[in-house]
Amino acid sequence: MKITVIGAGNVGATAAQKIAYDELAHEVVIVDVVEDLPQGKGLDMFQAMPVIGSDTIVTGTNTYDATADSDIVIMTAGLARKPGMSRDDLLFKNSEIVKSCIEQAYAKSPNAFFIVVSNPLDVMTYVALKATGLPRHKVIGMAGVLDSARYRTFIAMELGVSVEDINAFVLGGHGDTMVPLPRFTTVAGVPLSELMSQEKIDAIVKRTANGGAEIVGLLKTGSAYYSPSASAVEMAECIIKNKRRILPCAVWLEGEYGLKDVVCGVPIVLGKNGMERIFEIKLSDDEQAALNKSADDVRTNMAKLAAQA
Ligand code: NAI
Ligand code: 2OP
Repeated sequence: MKITVIGAGNVGATAAQKIAYDELAHEVVIVDVVEDLPQGKGLDMFQAMPVIGSDTIVTGTNTYDATADSDIVIMTAGLARKPGMSRDDLLFKNSEIVKSCIEQAYAKSPNAFFIVVSNPLDVMTYVALKATGLPRHKVIGMAGVLDSARYRTFIAMELGVSVEDINAFVLGGHGDTMVPLPRFTTVAGVPLSELMSQEKIDAIVKRTANGGAEIVGLLKTGSAYYSPSASAVEMAECIIKNKRRILPCAVWLEGEYGLKDVVCGVPIVLGKNGMERIFEIKLSDDEQAALNKSADDVRTNMAKLAAQA
C-alpha cells in the first residue's frame, strides 16, 4: 500500500503522520510546492518511526515522480481559511491548485483512489473528478466524517458520555447549510430526542454548522486540522481494510436522494472499491428540503466556476 498526500501543510502533514504512526501503508509520499518543506517534514516523520515502532517509509518531494503507483492520493493542497474568509472565498484559487495537482498525481497513479480535502470541498471534489475523468466511486470528498465528528463530540460533551457511543451523521455540502440529522442520531441506540430537549439539539446543530469557523476564530492563522486529517485517514483506512463502513462522504450524485449532477455529502458504503454504493434512507420533507438547499449552494459554486472557465 502506497499513499500520496498532496500538501505538506497542517492537514496534509498531520494526515501523513497518522498514516505512518498507524502503519496503514508501506510508503507515504508527501508533495508540496514549497521547496524543502515536504522533504523536511517527511524526514522528520520517518525519523519518528523507530520510536513509534512503524515500518512505514515517509518521504517528501516537490514533484510527482516519487508518487508513482500510489494506491490512494489524499488531496489537501490549497489555501486554508483565515478569519473572515468563507470556504467559498477559496473557490477560484483552490480550483486551479486542485486541477493541476490532481492531473499530475493521476498521470503517475492512474489506478489510485482520490480522497479530496481541499475547500470548498464539494466543488473541489467535482474539479478532481473532471481532472481525472475517473468514475465517481474513485473520487470521494471528505467533509461529512468531520462534520459528523464535530456533531458527535458536542453531543458527548452535553451528555457526559463517551464519543464512541454517539452514532450520527451530517449530510449535505460542507458549508453553512450542511444538514445534521437529529432524527437519525442515537446514543448507545437510544434516539437523541429521548435524551435532550429540542432547544439543546438545535443549539448543537447550529454549533456543528459553525464548527469550522469556530476553530478558525480560535486559531486565527488557519483552520482546523487534527479532526480533518483524522477524518480523511479514516476514509483511507476503510478502503485499505475493505471495512465497508457507512460514512457520510461527498460524491457525485446521479439521482440518489433526488439530486443529480452535483457533488454532495450522503452516506456511502466505503470499501476496497472506494464508494461501493450510496446508502439511501428516506428523509422527511424538511430534511429533504434542507439537503436540496445545501446541494443548491454547491451548484451555485459549480456555476461560478463554469462561468469563469
Ligand atoms: P495549509 O496552508 O496548512 O497547507 C496547505 C499546503 O498546500 C501548503 O503547505 C501549501 O504550500 C500547499 N500547496 C499550495 N499550493 C500547492 C500546489 N500547487 N501543490 C502542492 N502543494 C501546494 O492548509 P491546511 O490547513 O492544511 O488546509 C488545506 C486545505 O484543506 C484548505 O483548502 C482547507 O480549507 C481544506 N480543509 C478542508 C476540510 C474539509 O473538511 N474538507 C477541513 C480542513 C481543511
Ligand atoms: C473546517 O470545517 C475549514 O472546512 C474546514 O474546519
